[in-house]
Amino acid sequence: MGLYRKGTAIEDISLGDDLDRLLEEATALLNQAGSVQQLEQWRVKFLGRKSRISETLKGLSQLPPEQRAQRGKRANDVKVTLESQLSARQQALSAPACQPRIDVTLPGRHHPQGRLHPITQTVRAILDVFIPMGFEIAQGPEMEFEYYNFDALNIPPDHPSRESFDTFFVDLPSPVPEKGRLLLRSHTSGVQIRVMEKHKPPLRIVVPGRVYRRDAVDAGHSFMFHQVEGLMVDTQTSFADLKGVLGQFLERLFGAGTQARFRPHFFPFTEPSAEVDIACRACRGKGCSTCGRKGWIEIMGCGMVHPNVLKAVGYDSNKVQGFAFGMGVERIAMLRLGIPDIRLFFENDLRFLEQF
Ligand code: DAH
Repeated sequence: MGLYRKGTAIEDISLGDDLDRLLEEATALLNQAGSVQQLEQWRVKFLGRKSRISETLKGLSQLPPEQRAQRGKRANDVKVTLESQLSARQQALSAPACQPRIDVTLPGRHHPQGRLHPITQTVRAILDVFIPMGFEIAQGPEMEFEYYNFDALNIPPDHPSRESFDTFFVDLPSPVPEKGRLLLRSHTSGVQIRVMEKHKPPLRIVVPGRVYRRDAVDAGHSFMFHQVEGLMVDTQTSFADLKGVLGQFLERLFGAGTQARFRPHFFPFTEPSAEVDIACRACRGKGCSTCGRKGWIEIMGCGMVHPNVLKAVGYDSNKVQGFAFGMGVERIAMLRLGIPDIRLFFENDLRFLEQF
């Protein structure tokens, strides 16, 4: 430091060799500094008030004018270089502490993707067919009054068909005794009544929901399952409309060209009534173990709404008619997805659920 201040080696100084050496030495030491403290020591030594570069700048005024500009510029360049080297080094040293290092060679993290339960998917597939036909979604309570589940649907207390429903009754006093006991609904048909009580025709609804029956559990039965109910009421609704709507539905859900048949049946709440079968997909109608050698698989019940049902909700059965239908969702899901056992839907085994 201060070679020129002492008035010696002016030639050396004017060539700037000492500053080149200074820069070299400082750079080498900076690269060795491995901690914040070492960096600070380096800063004091090479950029501090008493550093060689500071002394050089201070001493410029003592130089002959013809050397001053060149020497001053060189000293300043060195100073700026040292400063920027220092700040780069400071950043490099502090980076690991506050920034996580990214190893781009590591395999990515797996984010498991959720999905809808196959029953939910099937309910949605069913509703998606009816909604474009103008049907609206309606829902009702799972704990229901005897009145809506039975009486208003033309199933009086002594009617033998009550037996076939194997109903769970709820052991609580009824909050509305004139509507009968409380029960877990054994079908979604009661929602027809609830909607018709509140709304005048024309009416088109689909009703998805859970239902309960005291069935022993096996591959084909569960004490809880899902249904989708449908109802249309208008002044000119006919059985032909029912066949048209359900025919469309079956083609959309099971594929174009799906063969279906309407087989006469009995339901208390419809007259006439029918059950709808589709040709067994496994044997194409020939008869196999899937369809119990019948060649057909029963898919849903339907019919023209019974005048007594219309009367129960205060509709004039001479002025309006309607059709209704009801289907079991699990059965449709099993057929569409090739699932052999209804219990699989409710065990929540991911190895099963992840297939859909
Ligand atoms: N509620 C019937 C059942 O659970 C299904 C059903 C049949 C619903 C015919 C209807 C219908 O609306 O018209 O077995």
